[in-house]
Amino acid sequence: MKVHLKTMGCQMNVLDSEILRSLLASSGMEMTDDAHAADVLLYNTCSVREQAENKVHSHLGRACGKKADGRGVIIGVLGCMAQRLGPELVKRHRGVDIVAGPGQLGRLVELIQLVADGGGPQIAMDPPRPEIKTDDKIEFFDHKRDPNRCHLPGQAYVRIMRGCDKFCAYCIVPYVRGPERSRPADDIIEEVRRLVDAGVTQVTLLGQTVNSYRSGGVGLADLMERLDGLAGLKRIRFVTSYPGDFDHAIFQAMRSLPKVCEYLHIPAQSGSDNMLRAMGRRYSRGEYDDLIAVARQTVPGIAIVGDFIVGFPGEAEEDHAASADLIRQSGYKNSFIFKYSPRPGTTGAKRLADDIPEDVKRRRNRELLAVQQEVSLADNRAMIGQTAEILVEGPSPRADKQPNSQNQLVGRTRTDHIVVFDGAENLAGQYADVKITNATALTLFGELNE
Ligand code: SAH
Ligand code: SF4
Ligand code: F3S
Repeated sequence: MKVHLKTMGCQMNVLDSEILRSLLASSGMEMTDDAHAADVLLYNTCSVREQAENKVHSHLGRACGKKADGRGVIIGVLGCMAQRLGPELVKRHRGVDIVAGPGQLGRLVELIQLVADGGGPQIAMDPPRPEIKTDDKIEFFDHKRDPNRCHLPGQAYVRIMRGCDKFCAYCIVPYVRGPERSRPADDIIEEVRRLVDAGVTQVTLLGQTVNSYRSGGVGLADLMERLDGLAGLKRIRFVTSYPGDFDHAIFQAMRSLPKVCEYLHIPAQSGSDNMLRAMGRRYSRGEYDDLIAVARQTVPGIAIVGDFIVGFPGEAEEDHAASADLIRQSGYKNSFIFKYSPRPGTTGAKRLADDIPEDVKRRRNRELLAVQQEVSLADNRAMIGQTAEILVEGPSPRADKQPNSQNQLVGRTRTDHIVVFDGAENLAGQYADVKITNATALTLFGELNE
């Protein structure tokens, strides 16, 4: 059977899809990039905003429409949206055969087989939160991974936690990904060792609130210290950090452990205390500012990345101005800015009317982006003239292309700055020293040091 798997959403989904590819391939199925040639069409989905779900609905509408013409493809919806909507997906799109929540992906081969054998639609949901035990063996699915299969040459995501217990008022993640559970440190180290043996040199440790990692007395800083000792590994990153209860030992680890990159993705969501309170974020603007100050003092050259939501219920112009001020003050390398999208079942959607008009959300989004662009441009320009170590990803996508260039490559610095430069394609997965010669707000351009 030929399987086409389309991935939407965050790094967790990218990782889940990598593991699924290993699992499907080891059961004799063939992966294909061509959706038209596939016998099985799988969508690994995201529920974080309505727009992300709408995209899946339109894919499903089209795929099920074709199926009505007589092609017997098997259609599966996986991940967060599968968990949120469950049987509703089968009702809305006649033609969907499989619905599998994020904790059920290990059963996918069995589910495909059941459908192929005429068993009808298969719905496999994760149990509701109180029934999921915090000592569940979350690592079993990760054990199915083929260490030779990576999302980029030499780079791998590694799950160290699942779920989230924070319940920010706007966020669907705690409902679809279940409670926070950490994976045993020995198990993580073993997985990283296998990846390094297969040629991986950069690992990104994944968790929704990755700084809360704790297993058997081992916290994130201790875990990174142990990983830092692995010969062959060159870079360690971790995402995403939650600004409440941040353990300063993590900054010390970033400073003293050579492999831990100077990169911190730490979403503020808003620069206004009123909004932080309404969002149920458990820190104030002042505490966030202090945290960023300590990060900058402790870790020289650190790059900080933020997320913001504009148009959360009740957001006044002065709250919005406070977010713009935070972007300026924090000197983010970049930030991800989103328009608030009410998610059914979250406390925000249940208790607060979505009272900021769409055109105001759009304007605020544009304004924050413009401020961030200025900050990013200044940050990028400051790097002109420096030489940076780049981990090469591969050929640069067309959008980055400069005129008259033949072999443009793209890669990232330790601080996750994107650098475009000319070089041979076989550098993908390798490290190169590149002198930065030019910069836009999004991209650095450079020349390979010979
Ligand atoms: N675990 C990460 C975030 C996961 S969701 C963390 O806690 O930082 C990724 C980003 O999507 C969030 O940081 C937030 O900025 C945005 N987001 C989440 N829910 C949203 C919603 N309902 N509407 C708009 N943006 C949202
Ligand atoms: Fe969502 Fe908040 Fe958890 Fe992040 S910390 S995943 S924003 S509930
Ligand atoms: Fe989306 Fe699920 Fe990630 S809702 S952001 S794919 S955890």
